[in-house]
Amino acid sequence: MNQSINERWLYLSLTPLPRSFSLAPEEANRFLASVLANSNPFQIMTEYARGLQGVIANESSLSNVIGDIGELSYVGHHIDDLVEHCCYEEIIYLLHHNRLPNKVELTAFEKQLRAERELPAPVIDFLKIAPKDASPMDVLRTAISMLGMYDHRAKIGEPDIAANAAIALSLCAKSATIVAAYHRFRNDLELPPIREDLTEAQHFLYLITGEVPTDTASRVLDVALILHADHGMNASTFSARVTIATLSDMYSAITAAIGTLKGPLHGGANEGVIHMLKDIGELENVDAWVEEKLVQKEKIMGIGHRVYKVLDPRAPHLRRLAIKLTEELGEPKWIKMSERIADIMRERKGLEANVDFYSATVYYSLGIPTDLFTPIFAISRTSGWTAHILEQLRDNRLYRPLTLYTGPKTLSPVAQIESR
Ligand SMILES: CC(C)(COP(=O)(O)OP(=O)(O)OC[C@H]1O[C@@H](n2cnc3c(N)ncnc32)[C@H](O)[C@@H]1OP(=O)(O)O)[C@@H](O)C(=O)NCCC(=O)NCCS
Repeated sequence: MNQSINERWLYLSLTPLPRSFSLAPEEANRFLASVLANSNPFQIMTEYARGLQGVIANESSLSNVIGDIGELSYVGHHIDDLVEHCCYEEIIYLLHHNRLPNKVELTAFEKQLRAERELPAPVIDFLKIAPKDASPMDVLRTAISMLGMYDHRAKIGEPDIAANAAIALSLCAKSATIVAAYHRFRNDLELPPIREDLTEAQHFLYLITGEVPTDTASRVLDVALILHADHGMNASTFSARVTIATLSDMYSAITAAIGTLKGPLHGGANEGVIHMLKDIGELENVDAWVEEKLVQKEKIMGIGHRVYKVLDPRAPHLRRLAIKLTEELGEPKWIKMSERIADIMRERKGLEANVDFYSATVYYSLGIPTDLFTPIFAISRTSGWTAHILEQLRDNRLYRPLTLYTGPKTLSPVAQIESR
């Protein structure tokens, strides 16, 4: 049969579905086989990839993660180069515009971004009444979702790229204000006046502490924001793309992404690292502690990666900063414990540290509360998520994979409820 793709679509949509389960199993199988035979354009994969490992789900020009050599680049620029020469605002621009800005463009972009820092009054009210012991990730997720109700551009229905680009910029600025505001309110403190003369990194630290940070602290956070901005088809980015691909709105997609990032196998690992270091307590306890976890087949947080089979290229930058900061603080214990854990895991399991392993010590040394580590990851990754959402909308296709059915192979009649 020489059918065009459209004709086959038509065939599939017009093929009558069985109305009851009175089909004999062989007939049902024949029906399914006929559907599959006429659905070649969908290229049904016969191999099952658990956790979608190794599956290419879409095209993207945003970041390139080369797992076997441990290389990461954003839009054709090596991460090492970006860390050395750029600030976080340039990275947002790069991801949103697919190229680096010149000086004039960067200044204009920073101005636009800073003008988006204020939150609507109802969102501020929510942050004031949110439970003081809530997870800041839950608060961030809820506040971002709330923002969608106050932005009529979110209800456009059709993907309007210009409107979505404006929302993307706004979310990159507002996510930091949400996290900082909640932190102030839960400690019975006022939010300092929003300022437009500080960078993203400076402004976040200023909001949570009430003081303009030192250049060192600002640059350290700036580097961390650069390193967390994007990372291929990671779980939360995939969530964002799946959500927007239904032509839902950007706020819904970011809400889904935040919920996904929260898990300890993804962004939540950085908090896990500090809990682990505190649990171990002293350098001399490390070997026995790790050994016990390995015997119990428990995961060591901050170690291992689905894609990198060598050292995560973001880790050395954060390691360098962690060493510098802990030395300055006169608290080298944390980094020494971390180094010993990394050595044991390399020797015993052939596994390397990932981005979360050293970022935890970096944030801890900056005096940032542990439960804000993952929200900081979310603040930075909002630049990548929103860029992926815009990219998805420019060439959209609904995500609809298949499942390998493992239930009963034969169909049984439904018995009356009394006789089940
Ligand atoms: C990131 C992660 C989910 C990747 O998982 P994955 O690709 O599915 O890797 P696998 O679970 O298949 O791991 C392969 C082997 O290494 C072990 N392993 C992987 N990460 C480990 C870790 N952190 N601690 C101990 N063992 C680990 C697995 O138990 C498995 O061992 P086995 O072959 O003896 O069963 C996993 O490494 C992990 O849970 N790390 C800790 C959480 C973390 O830091 N997440 C942040 C990622 S940026």
